[in-house]
Amino acid sequence: MLTDPNRALRQRLADWQLAGVTHVPHVEITEPVPAPPVPASSPIPPATERPSPPPEVPSVVEPSPPASSPVAPRPELPVSPSTLSLAERETQLSNLSQTVSKCVRCQELAATRTQTVFGVGNPEAQVMFVGEAPGADEDKQGEPFVGRAGQLMNKIIEACGWQRADLYICNILRCRPPGNRNPSPDEAANCREYLDDQIRIVDPDYIVCWGSVAAHNLLDETTPIGKLRQKWSKYGRAKVLCTYHPSYLLRNPAAKKPVWEDMKFLLSEMGLEPPTA
Ligand code: URA
Repeated sequence: MLTDPNRALRQRLADWQLAGVTHVPHVEITEPVPAPPVPASSPIPPATERPSPPPEVPSVVEPSPPASSPVAPRPELPVSPSTLSLAERETQLSNLSQTVSKCVRCQELAATRTQTVFGVGNPEAQVMFVGEAPGADEDKQGEPFVGRAGQLMNKIIEACGWQRADLYICNILRCRPPGNRNPSPDEAANCREYLDDQIRIVDPDYIVCWGSVAAHNLLDETTPIGKLRQKWSKYGRAKVLCTYHPSYLLRNPAAKKPVWEDMKFLLSEMGLEPPTA
């Protein structure tokens, strides 16, 4: 029987740690729906098949740790360029991917996933794309952005003059949330160490956050995604650009115009121009 209140508190903190509580959750805001008209000149092609995606399922609200929960402070990301060789980056990403494949920090996700979806692409990419979380196709194939949203993303990548393999592509979460619900704040916090490690290893100059879940989680922001567009934020030493999620473009083709403007904004900052057709 614990009678000393400090001892009782210490015991509760220890219990939470044993239960896997290591992070304070982030605030989560869902995608807004502003949609300017489609430009005649947008190079982002229409989706070939467009069955309506299922309506977005509201986030499951998970019990948050109490305000006095122990906080694992997030290590700062370096602000100077990485000196890791390509081979070192490959090895570190491969080791991290092995660790992630065994992760059980989020009990529900670990119990329902087919596999973890770590990330793919160039370990020395200048540009990293960060999405929200794997969907059903990604969960099956083990690779981010391989479903309909990914196919549209591939067309955007091509319109920029790149190939998928030039970039590094990952998500806020490495497991599929059941029913494609939004990641809970606890899940995003649990996965954050892996995302930060991927950013540290790849060390991109630019990060593109696709959609409000990516933008709000990475930047610890609550500003609507429409207001985060067309300006630079900073994460570590990377310049961060936020734009609409490709799934949103599938539902709202008019949003392709602002996304293309965002891509041109990125290319221009990189001193590049989109290829002429
Ligand atoms: N949507 C995402 O945000 N990420 C994926 O990997 C696939 C769809």
